[in-house]
Amino acid sequence: MATLPAWPPSSSQPGDGALCGAAADWIFADPRSRELLADIEQIAPSDASILIAGETGTGKALIARHIHSRSLRHEGPFVVVSCGAFSESLVDAELFGYENGAFAGAFGAQPGWFEEANGGTIFLDEINDLPLPVQNKLLRVLQEREVMRLGGRRPIPIDLRILAATTVDLEQLVAEKRFRKDLYYRLNVVSLHVLTLKERPGDIVPLARYFIDKYSRRLGYPRLELTPDAEQLLIQAPWHGNVRELENVIHRTLLRCERSQIDAASLRLPAPAPAQSEVPVAALDAASGSPMDSPSHDDMTVLRQAMRRLCESQTEHLHQTVEDSLLYEAFRFSNYSQSETSRLLGISRNVVRARLIRLGEIGAPRKTPGGADIGNDFRKTS
Ligand SMILES: Nc1ncnc2c1ncn2[C@@H]1O[C@H](COP(=O)(O)OP(=O)(O)OP(=O)(O)O)[C@@H](O)[C@H]1O
Ligand SMILES: [Mg+2]
Repeated sequence: MATLPAWPPSSSQPGDGALCGAAADWIFADPRSRELLADIEQIAPSDASILIAGETGTGKALIARHIHSRSLRHEGPFVVVSCGAFSESLVDAELFGYENGAFAGAFGAQPGWFEEANGGTIFLDEINDLPLPVQNKLLRVLQEREVMRLGGRRPIPIDLRILAATTVDLEQLVAEKRFRKDLYYRLNVVSLHVLTLKERPGDIVPLARYFIDKYSRRLGYPRLELTPDAEQLLIQAPWHGNVRELENVIHRTLLRCERSQIDAASLRLPAPAPAQSEVPVAALDAASGSPMDSPSHDDMTVLRQAMRRLCESQTEHLHQTVEDSLLYEAFRFSNYSQSETSRLLGISRNVVRARLIRLGEIGAPRKTPGGADIGNDFRKTS
């Protein structure tokens, strides 16, 4: 195992007093974020399993990667497993690997994710989405610290650290018997709670400046400044999508910005939450541009009128068209988070994923040698 990387890293300062990494790849400026960072620094070098809880877009994946990079395993692989993408029929082969001929189409042996993470860290993202039967198998691996490939004869010892993230209260899932209690305790040796962006307002402007830098560089723009009124607007916005939403707002703003500074008028913020009788026209207005530019109307009335017009126009495949438009908008509204889209629409993640693939919004799944589909965000990164 390697020695720890130097700390604190030398850094540029995109926000007033913001702490940022060596490659300036994260911001923890608010006092409550600094507390979290201090916790992270303390626990990162240990080998303890860590459960990272927080709303969507708060930075859980970023924190997991940071913990790995600050651990003694930082030279080993960092493998991300998106548990929400599991299909039960494939999980054995994917998690545990298989030997040649283990099942029809298993040509050649293939290591699973646990083996790939050997010597490093496995990050079980969206662990709350893991189906119960898979939880049983996972628990066995954690207890035994060894995996058996499908069709294999000998267990393979594994040496890795486990990080997991959840967007929902796992204790609640345990109480509802939807999550195994013993697995919960095994994962939750240490827990980190990542606050929503609204709960750490001191991060908002430094993060905005950081994203302005990031996207200005990417777009080849000169560095743009935020005016004080723009900063105020950012601080007051609701940020339901947390840091991811802020990042998208800044990106969107820069794409359309024609001024030398970013003022309140040029910020591309989402429309404020509508009152019951005053809802922005969003759903079926895809053709006319962004929902945030739309005037306020009674949403359902406008929606019905639009449907009526579609019926009158004898639009082909009307149901499909409407459904696709809704998914398209919801996916953007959810800042491109599949789990958030699924929650918003009240349909399963697998259905969301399949439809996004059909619409070309996300990449097609890769195939196992057996030819079965694997969810597209089944991702392994080292
Ligand atoms: N403190 C931070 N500094 C800089 N960028 C951040 C910070 N926190 C989050 N981000 C950025 O915000 C985006 C969302 O973060 P991330 O994917 O880690 O959130 P998450 O909590 O895992 O979301 P989800 O639950 O939806 O998967 C990413 O682009 C990430 O790089
Ligand atoms: Mg995540």
